[in-house]
Amino acid sequence: MSLILRIVFLCCHILVFLSEISLAVDSISQDQSLSDDGNTLVSKDGTFELGFFTPGSSHNRYLGIWYKKIPIQTVVWVANRLNPINDSSGMLSLNTSTGSLVLTQNGSVVWSTSSLRKPESPIALLLDSGNLVVRDERDAESEAYLWQSFDYPTDTFLPEMKFGWDLRKGLNRYLTAWKSPDDPSPSDFTFGMVLHNYPEAYMTKGNQTFYRSGPWNGLHSSGSPQLRDNPIFDFKFVFNKDEVYYTYSLKNSSLISRLVLNGTSYVRRRYVWIESEQRWAVYTSVPLDLCDSYALCGAYANCVISDSPVCQCLEGFKPKSPQAWNSMDWSHGCGRNKGLSCEDRHKDGFMKLTGLKAPDTAHTWLDQTIGLEECKAKCLENCSCMAYANSDVRGQGSGCAMWFGDLIDIRQFAAGGQDLYVRMEASELEHANEGHKKGGVLVAVTVSLAVAALSGILILGWCYRMKSHINVQEKSDFSIKPDQNSGMQVDDMDLPVYEVSTIAKATSNFTIKNKIGEGGFGPVYWGILADGLEIAVKRLSTSSGQGLTEFKNEVKLIAKLQHRNLVKLLGCCLEGEEKMLVYEYMPNGSLDSFIFDQQRSKLLDWSKRFHIISGIAKGLLYLHQDSRLRIIHRDLKASNVLLDNGLNPKISDFGLARIFGGDQNEGNTKRIVGTYGYMAPEYATDGLFSAKSDVFSFGVLLLEIISGKRSRGYYNQNHSHNLIGYAWKLWKEGRPLELIDKSLEDTCFVSQILHCIHVSLLCVQQHPEDRPGMSRVLLMLVSEFELPEPKQPGFFGKYSSEADSSSSKQQLSSTNEITITLLEAR
Ligand SMILES: *[C@@H]1O[C@H](CO)[C@@H](O)[C@H](O)[C@H]1NC(C)=O
Ligand SMILES: *[C@@H]1O[C@H](CO)[C@@H](O)[C@H](O)[C@H]1NC(C)=O
Ligand SMILES: *[C@@H]1O[C@H](CO)[C@@H](O)[C@H](O)[C@H]1NC(C)=O
Ligand SMILES: *[C@@H]1O[C@H](CO)[C@@H](O)[C@H](O)[C@H]1NC(C)=O
Ligand SMILES: *[C@@H]1O[C@H](CO)[C@@H](O)[C@H](O)[C@H]1NC(C)=O
Ligand SMILES: *[C@@H]1O[C@H](CO)[C@@H](O)[C@H](O)[C@H]1NC(C)=O
Ligand SMILES: *[C@@H]1O[C@H](CO)[C@@H](O)[C@H](O)[C@H]1NC(C)=O
Repeated sequence: MSLILRIVFLCCHILVFLSEISLAVDSISQDQSLSDDGNTLVSKDGTFELGFFTPGSSHNRYLGIWYKKIPIQTVVWVANRLNPINDSSGMLSLNTSTGSLVLTQNGSVVWSTSSLRKPESPIALLLDSGNLVVRDERDAESEAYLWQSFDYPTDTFLPEMKFGWDLRKGLNRYLTAWKSPDDPSPSDFTFGMVLHNYPEAYMTKGNQTFYRSGPWNGLHSSGSPQLRDNPIFDFKFVFNKDEVYYTYSLKNSSLISRLVLNGTSYVRRRYVWIESEQRWAVYTSVPLDLCDSYALCGAYANCVISDSPVCQCLEGFKPKSPQAWNSMDWSHGCGRNKGLSCEDRHKDGFMKLTGLKAPDTAHTWLDQTIGLEECKAKCLENCSCMAYANSDVRGQGSGCAMWFGDLIDIRQFAAGGQDLYVRMEASELEHANEGHKKGGVLVAVTVSLAVAALSGILILGWCYRMKSHINVQEKSDFSIKPDQNSGMQVDDMDLPVYEVSTIAKATSNFTIKNKIGEGGFGPVYWGILADGLEIAVKRLSTSSGQGLTEFKNEVKLIAKLQHRNLVKLLGCCLEGEEKMLVYEYMPNGSLDSFIFDQQRSKLLDWSKRFHIISGIAKGLLYLHQDSRLRIIHRDLKASNVLLDNGLNPKISDFGLARIFGGDQNEGNTKRIVGTYGYMAPEYATDGLFSAKSDVFSFGVLLLEIISGKRSRGYYNQNHSHNLIGYAWKLWKEGRPLELIDKSLEDTCFVSQILHCIHVSLLCVQQHPEDRPGMSRVLLMLVSEFELPEPKQPGFFGKYSSEADSSSSKQQLSSTNEITITLLEAR
């Protein structure tokens, strides 16, 4: 072999070798190709991978992009959706003269891209965003891309993608669901931005509309008030003469999140990857509930998820077909009680409705430069204008949107909805206004709204799966007015005093079998009175340091505290050294026996947990504010929250600190009563207690309910943090989802849970003055308004004093969390 030939041979080897090497990276350039033999492109930071794959149980090969680092194959884009390759002869190459990507099967083209321009030296590159782009090697500007996969999304909307229109190119980027998990070909289920004058996105199946997002109102799309500032992603909507799109970006590039249109369950979900658990969590999902179903109630009707039936004609309107309406077919909608006349249009007025999702914008007119007054005048002038509103609701509101023709697909939100002014005939308007005065509209955000919302309305807005859990009776508990409950008992109600013999008989002489717990102030026994009433008897340890009369007076006062979220004190029993309190019996036991138990925790889905959280908050607010005694609980914890038959929470052991000689309600005590893990730092170390130390305990309890982990005894092996510290660390790192209890896995309330984590961190802040009061906490739990960033929490390291850390894990939970009473020698 001649020397020259040998060199050529060698060179060829090197070339082949080099081209193989370069295939292991992120681009294809001239003369290179990607064949279906295990080769892939991997984006520079290793996030995404492009190659051939086989979906589900199919035998076909597709060219696609997926997450490289995620073990569950998660395909985010597919090239040849329509033309599968049925063997391994697939090959992707770049035609350097045209700048197009070409996918072939045994030489024949199955898929190709077009290029905007004739390139000089094209290169195909898989970016770290998951975008496959063709560009000139020298021009990395995104504006200069010759082609990009982000312009042709399949079922997945990735961060940095634009969902909507590039009007200059006539390009519409929308999502199309896969036909099935085995078949990525486009189904007829799509979600895309529609260019009405006032644009909004529609989810459709064939020619049928499933759901619409509502138009962008400056803050969020009108139908998604839950879209708000959050730890995971930022979002924005761009609407100008060149472009109309929605986009989002991740706050921390180490997070992974995607939006997917699902053609099996007909929803669009946002998923977030939970690294520590190696799973995808559902963050949000639309449509969310019945009222999200497009035009469920027909024209001029409001869908109110907490009402039964959910559809309600607007005031001044009545069902068009009463018979159908009454049999729950609302599709005919409602018509005016009194028709409009175009000649008299100037006499018409407008009825203001609040808290709504703006109606379908198919027939709208928009002027972003004029305000509400001018908008009203314009609408009044045109007798086919049926409503107007601000197109941007931020601040005082601005811009003008007008609706022509019937108002369709309106729904009510308990929070985050917007105002709409509906045209009314003058006399009807008077009626409606009177009605409003009587009935009241959901406008003011007050504590009683918060309480009302907690009682069901808002919660229902989150997800209609909750419907079944909401107790209708709850509606009667709309407000906690001072003394509404206790006031009835102000006239001296004589507290029943039981004989020791009666109690002894009821509890089979305090047999150990009847012992159901060991609370902070002594053992608790189950018992049954002669009349069949089940009771829980707390046998107080004798060291109360109080005289008998004093004690009885205290008990009488405590017995007057009555609230649906407080355990009811039925009476007491006093004889010699024996002091006992008799309570109603709670068959479901205490909260800790649910949330910390692998099996029983499954019984508490998020809606039940939220119900419990709100109940505890209401009970505590009552103790702090609304009862005459202004009780600081001082030992709020999971084992002191009991659950009744309906899993309604009832706080127990309230007022005991008072009985036990804590005669102040605020201030400094030498006698510290509380439980490590729940005690606020200023209380545990200095004996300073206040309503804010209870708020701290509430925050800890909230974290426990969300995480299913104990405040104490939870130590991440890698860090010396307790639960608060762990939550704080995750929060700071933008990974709060990892805190959420695994048994809440399939919840569709992740954004609400995150909101609750935020509230809990505000409650456990180091300094009492930074913590919100309970009325504020209640409001925060249910409202949409932005919360302040929490400051560093108190006690987030390990506790230094671990008096009972030696107790065996096999023991009853209460021994791990026993209330301590410390007498400090000062
Ligand atoms: C694979 O596809 C080619 C081209 O569409 C077709 O001619 C061939 O019959 C197919 N082979 C099998 C095994 O389905
Ligand atoms: C590139 O595309 C052009 C136009 O379709 C075609 O004529 C040419 O053969 C292609 N080149 C290669 C290398 O496939
Ligand atoms: C691939 O193409 C070649 C040439 O066009 C043809 O002879 C061969 O049968 C094809 N193979 C398959 C499996 O289709
Ligand atoms: C929707 O599509 C179905 C089936 O393709 C057809 O029967 C129906 O008439 C269409 N409806 C409308 C309103 O176009
Ligand atoms: C669609 O939803 C079903 C049921 O929740 C799920 O099993 C499937 O994986 C989802 N498909 C996609 C593409 O997310
Ligand atoms: C009212 O507005 C509609 C929609 O913009 C328009 O088509 C119609 O001509 C207007 N009518 C009058 C009388 O201005
Ligand atoms: C992003 O997340 C990583 C890992 O969770 C964390 O270490 C980092 O501090 C976070 N970065 C920012 C800016 O929060």
